[in-house]
Amino acid sequence: MSEAILISHLCKSFCIEGRSIPVLRDLDLTLDARGFTVLVGRSGCGKTTLLRLLSGLLQPDSGQILLPADLRMGIMFQEARLMPWLTAERNVTLGIRRPTPEKARQMLQLVGLSGFERAYPAQLSGGMQQRAALARTLMRDAQLILMDEPFAALDSFTRETMQKELLRIRREKDCGVILVTHNIDEALILGDRIVLLSDGRAARSYELPAQTGCRDILTEPFLSIKKSVMEALKSL
Ligand SMILES: Nc1ncnc2c1ncn2[C@@H]1O[C@H](COP(=O)(O)OP(=O)(O)O)[C@@H](O)[C@H]1O
Ligand SMILES: [Mg+2]
Repeated sequence: MSEAILISHLCKSFCIEGRSIPVLRDLDLTLDARGFTVLVGRSGCGKTTLLRLLSGLLQPDSGQILLPADLRMGIMFQEARLMPWLTAERNVTLGIRRPTPEKARQMLQLVGLSGFERAYPAQLSGGMQQRAALARTLMRDAQLILMDEPFAALDSFTRETMQKELLRIRREKDCGVILVTHNIDEALILGDRIVLLSDGRAARSYELPAQTGCRDILTEPFLSIKKSVMEALKSL
C-alpha cells in the first residue's frame, strides 16, 4: 500500500465581502502519511486551510489530494473542543457507535489521564484537556493525526511535556502526524520534515535526522536548519 499523500495543483480561495481571496495557489506537495511532517508559515498563509482540506472538512476549488486507500485520519485543534457536560471518558467515546469503556480507559491511560475518567473538562487543566482530545482521536484508531497548533495555548513547561508524550505515543501507536506550529523549536524537536508554506505554495522543505531519543536542538544540524527556516520566514 502506498503511504504517500499526493497533493497536486491544489487551489483554494475564500470569498470575503464579495472578493475572492486566494489562499492556496497551485500547491504541489508529497507527504509521507507515516512520517512526522511539521507545517510552518506566517499567520494567514493557509496552514489550517491545508489541514482542513486534507481531512475533508473543506473541498478544494481545483487540484487534488490523493490519500492512501482506507487511511483513517483524526484531527486536533488548538482548543480541545470537549463537551463540557460529558466526563473525559464519555468525551473520548462520543460519536462511536459501539463504544467500549475499556478501550476508552486504555486510551486515557496512554495519554496519562488514568484516574480522571470521570472528571469533567472544567476540572482538567489545559494540558489535560488536550490529552483527552488526543485520546479521543486515538480512540478512532487514527493512522494519521492532523494537529493544528495543538500545544500553542499551553505554558512552556506543559508544552514540553506534551511534546515528549506525543513522541512516545507516536512510537507506541505507529501513526503518522502532520502538525502545524508557529514554534520553530517545536518543529525541530518533533518533525522528520519541516515544510514551509508561503504565498499559497510549499516554498521550502527541510529533512531532519531520524529521531533517536531526545533531540538536542542546540546542536548541529538543528541550529543550521533553524537559521534557514527563520531566514526563509522573514524573506519569503
Ligand atoms: N472560512 C473562511 N472564510 C473566509 N476566509 C477564510 C476562511 N478560512 C480561512 N480564511 C482566510 O484564509 C487565509 C488563510 O487562513 P488559515 O488557513 O486559517 O491560515 P493559517 O492557519 O496559516 O494562519 C486567511 O486570510 C483567513 O482569513
Ligand atoms: Mg491556523
